[in-house]
Amino acid sequence: MVEEINKVGLVGLGTMGAGIDEGFARAGFTFTGVEIDDAALERGRTHLEKSLAKAVAKGKLTEDEQRAILGRVTFTTSRDDLADAHLAVEAVPERLDIKRSVFADLDRILPPAAILATNTSSLSVTEIAALTSRPGKVIGLHFFNPAPVMRLVEIVTTVVTEPHVRETATQVVTRLGKTPVAVGDRAGFVANALLVPYLNHAVAVYEQGLATREQIDAAITSAAGFPMGPLTLMDLVGLDVLLDVMDVLWDEFRRPRYAAAPLLRRMVAAGLLGRKSGRGFYDYSGADNPAEPEPTAPLAQLVGDGPGQISLADLLLVPHLNDAARMIGDGYATADDVDTAMRLGCGYPKGLAAMLDERGVKNVTETLAELAAAGLFTDDTAPLLTMLAKQGKDTLRS
Ligand code: 3HC
Repeated sequence: MVEEINKVGLVGLGTMGAGIDEGFARAGFTFTGVEIDDAALERGRTHLEKSLAKAVAKGKLTEDEQRAILGRVTFTTSRDDLADAHLAVEAVPERLDIKRSVFADLDRILPPAAILATNTSSLSVTEIAALTSRPGKVIGLHFFNPAPVMRLVEIVTTVVTEPHVRETATQVVTRLGKTPVAVGDRAGFVANALLVPYLNHAVAVYEQGLATREQIDAAITSAAGFPMGPLTLMDLVGLDVLLDVMDVLWDEFRRPRYAAAPLLRRMVAAGLLGRKSGRGFYDYSGADNPAEPEPTAPLAQLVGDGPGQISLADLLLVPHLNDAARMIGDGYATADDVDTAMRLGCGYPKGLAAMLDERGVKNVTETLAELAAAGLFTDDTAPLLTMLAKQGKDTLRS
């Protein structure tokens, strides 16, 4: 059993990995970053160096600290260099064949007592654990983008994770200055299972011509105070990553709410992945990004702030609250866990359970009924909300 984690390896220095490495190095761990080839390794190294230089320029890090951090970091293209690591975190692309090769190597190379962690957001941690000879020592450490900023890490345990592995992982996450939330191995865990269908719904609303991308983003930032509108956030995270999450949610739950919007699939097929490819819902290539004309689709008149219309913010948010009530009703997460996950993982000013309680169960169920009557909500009201409404209770926590 590994008593203390000091040496950490990270395999994959892409969008997520390149943010995770800085956290480990800054928290005092001896850290080895592994990439597939020299070019990718160089990108990872440059990312870390630039980020540290920025922190020094802002006066958030001294030059001595910067030197000490860089002194604890090694970059390599050889997984064999992780032979004395106590913990390895994998952040490679979400394909089982790639994960299979990484975990076979980590299992062979690291000492038998070492912990193997995956940052997967769309594969089953249980299936990944089963690829190794030490399934009890495999755990999910799910970080959020941008990893240096978002404070949540979901700690995903499977039915066979050894209790001390969970405790050790919790200590590591706390040492990183992050907040751990323990979750079971279910598609999307807590935060993505709630966030991603809401993002996908925003795509569907856009695709149906009910609002422009600017109107959708502004409705959410102004009405709910979320730090980013859904389409802007999708461009940050990567549309391919989000489509993968939608597909596993669909595989596991088979509800209309989890069917990927056709436009999302088309955009991914066309290589419009968001910031990382230079274009997603918006253009990041330096080209002009003019606002779109007002939608002319006939159904667009249902949505707006006029009398008898449904507000765009309600259209996007109220089904999101319903999803949270469903998850809490399922017993997968508590209202507090849902709120911590959404505040610290996605920067929401308040958690979804808190928002729901503020609006009231009656208001939420009535709005869902209005949306359904207009054909704009095709899922069911969460059984927990129906039950509370019948009991005359207006809050989840009542
Ligand atoms: N990398 C490193 N640091 C970054 C950064 C990045 N990509 N983006 C912003 N920051 C830092 C800035 O440097 C700044 O640091 P400072 O306080 O030391 O100066 C700080 O974050 C605040 O940045 P800004 O003032 O430029 O911008 P905002 O206040 O608007 O915050 C944000 C930016 C933190 C990204 C905020 O908009 C936010 O919270 N957005 C929501 C992000 C979110 O929902 N993430 C979860 C996505 S889902 C996911 O990742 C799971 C996966 O499995 C799909």
